Amino acid sequence: MSCRVRTLVKLGSIILFACIVSTLSDTRLIQGHNQNLGEALQFLREYDSEASGMCFRVSSAQWRYSTNMTDYNKRRMIEEQMIRAKFEKLSWKKAITFDWTRLPDPMTRRQLKMLATNGRASLPDEKYNEIHHLISEMKEMYNSVRVCPYNNKDNRYCDLVLDPDVIRLMEHSRNPGELNHIWKEWHDKTGPPVKNKFMRYVQLANQAARMNGFSDAGEQMKHQYEDDHFEFELNETWEKLLPLYKELFTYVRKRLLGKYGSEYIREDGPLPAHLVGSISGQDWNGIADLMMPYPAVKNIDVTDELLRQGFTPLRIFQMAEEFFTSMGLKPMPPEFWRNSLLEKPVDRKVQCTASAWDFCNRMDFRIKECTEVTMDDLVSVHHEMSHVQYYMSYADQPYIYRDGANPAFHEAISNAIRLSVFNPHHFHRVGLFNNNSETYETNMNFLMTMALNKVAFIPYALLVDQWRFHVFRGGIQTMNSAWWDLRLRYQGIVPPAARNERQLDAAAKRHVIADIPYTRYYVALLLEFQIQEALCSAAGHTGQLYTCDIYRSREAGRILSEALKLGRSRHWRDVLRTITRGKQDRLSADAMLDYFQPLLMWLRIQNRAEKVIGWTTHKEDTSLFQPLLYKSSASAQSLYLYPLIAVIALKINLL
Ligand SMILES: *[C@@H]1O[C@H](CO)[C@@H](O)[C@H](O)[C@H]1NC(C)=O
Ligand SMILES: *[C@@H]1O[C@H](CO)[C@@H](O)[C@H](O)[C@H]1NC(C)=O
Ligand SMILES: *[C@@H]1O[C@H](CO)[C@@H](O)[C@H](O)[C@H]1NC(C)=O
Ligand SMILES: *[C@@H]1O[C@H](CO)[C@@H](O)[C@H](O)[C@H]1NC(C)=O
Ligand SMILES: [Zn+2]
Repeated sequence: MSCRVRTLVKLGSIILFACIVSTLSDTRLIQGHNQNLGEALQFLREYDSEASGMCFRVSSAQWRYSTNMTDYNKRRMIEEQMIRAKFEKLSWKKAITFDWTRLPDPMTRRQLKMLATNGRASLPDEKYNEIHHLISEMKEMYNSVRVCPYNNKDNRYCDLVLDPDVIRLMEHSRNPGELNHIWKEWHDKTGPPVKNKFMRYVQLANQAARMNGFSDAGEQMKHQYEDDHFEFELNETWEKLLPLYKELFTYVRKRLLGKYGSEYIREDGPLPAHLVGSISGQDWNGIADLMMPYPAVKNIDVTDELLRQGFTPLRIFQMAEEFFTSMGLKPMPPEFWRNSLLEKPVDRKVQCTASAWDFCNRMDFRIKECTEVTMDDLVSVHHEMSHVQYYMSYADQPYIYRDGANPAFHEAISNAIRLSVFNPHHFHRVGLFNNNSETYETNMNFLMTMALNKVAFIPYALLVDQWRFHVFRGGIQTMNSAWWDLRLRYQGIVPPAARNERQLDAAAKRHVIADIPYTRYYVALLLEFQIQEALCSAAGHTGQLYTCDIYRSREAGRILSEALKLGRSRHWRDVLRTITRGKQDRLSADAMLDYFQPLLMWLRIQNRAEKVIGWTTHKEDTSLFQPLLYKSSASAQSLYLYPLIAVIALKINLL
């Protein structure tokens, strides 16, 4: 199934050989001697029922805490999580007693391989506990960061939190001094305090990976995509998207230059990280007001209409449900309506981030969302309910296959549905928007809004793990300059002030310290458009991709449910083939380019007079973060520590 022609070309070999090679590369992964298929099946049956039960208990405890944040509920949740960690370790120990590469049944092989290669259970007990502990400590530290406001001279009221304060300031402040201050505060308070813990985490993650047969933890993360050559696809798609990114970038730079002046931005240079409207610089929605192609034309917003029609959170959920049933998919089960949290309760503290839950017992699925009657929430309820559709579709699979086809699939499906919903034509069809006044200008504004979200995100989504893979491969000495090197190379973004190796600016992003892989966001971004294009073609859509809405299309619903019910039981390339009716099995940039084509035309005209499309890099840009160019005593001291760190790393790797 995963023998692929591209592998052959690379190896200069024939089909048969490629298949043998791919099995060979599995044999270096950890495995035992037991070749008894009956025993393997027996083990997998037991695992299935115990793991489902464990998942139910942990999800219940997590739900109880997220919807009622008391210390007691938190302790209970942590207890359950620890029990599960022990269970996972035990299951791993049993799984690796099997000589799984030699078992005749492919499904048994697949399941055992997934159990044997996943996670960190290969570490000895005390290190296994240590890495879990380290990650939760880093998350606690991240959550407890408080930032001092700009005008607070004596630093007495330093109580700004990330969400909502820092996020809101980065979006709304247009004072470069304040933006610079908040940016620096956040990065200086998230990075240096966790740096030692992070380096220890890197060592332990690498050890776990090596004991499983991988060369390092980055390789273990990539293994989730079940294709040794997947990285080429990442590169290849990035190169195709780069021209679109550069046009958007150039237009944004021109507008920012007009706003802030050449004191802050060079006319052919990169963008300073504090001026792009978000603390991480990953999307540029925050500065959308400065970027609208036609500021005099109103942007699409159905919030007022929702309020006028007397919508409630419940009615928003019913509308989302009807979106799916209109395509022939299942309605939400009674348990969903009984147990979900649709509104923010007044009598207790809740964790309000919207999320969709699978309690792993094949009937209890929920959404937690502090829904308000707004367009944003209408759209996000559709997104969350798409996750629930996925859960329900693969509920009959064994526990281990009840997951997205690859780590990106869940988000990709939900975001593809979102493309149909957040769309003037859809709003027209459900009676929320009169699109008679739809014009070229409104469409360009709409596409710009989407581009500031999606196109701006492309290089960031790719570079976070490029950095992490570099660090795992042995790059802990120059972690911070490597981070900025990538951000400049991919995004064209530089820090607003000089940075050095005492800092760890990647840690300003929660996913980095929370051990959450990031490549999935890049893959999901592309798949989202590939899936939308495929479903739209099934729905018989003609015309621009960005106007497509699959609402009421039975054929799109049929294909979707056929793909979703596979869960992770098949290689994701097979699932992609199912969705595209055999047309595609690779990651492709074409659908995304197609979606933004009208905007690209518009951008090219806007950028006609620009000397440089994209950015040129000068020494003044790289000297902001190249460590060897610094002469301060503090940097000299940290440079002096490198050989020592390297020795520690080497020693631990050998253990
Ligand atoms: C919240 O959790 C506490 C236990 O810490 C419990 O006593 C209380 O009844 C819960 N509140 C609700 C509304 O469930
Ligand atoms: C600081 O600025 C905030 C708004 O940005 C304002 O509400 C507050 O009064 C200011 N504090 C001082 C001490 O100027
Ligand atoms: C991806 O591209 C970068 C630069 O564009 C290159 O250095 C790297 O080797 C490429 N990786 C692969 C796997 O092709
Ligand atoms: C409004 O949306 C409907 C539904 O998709 C579409 O048929 C119609 O052409 C749109 N009207 C305009 C003016 O674009
Ligand atoms: Zn989601």
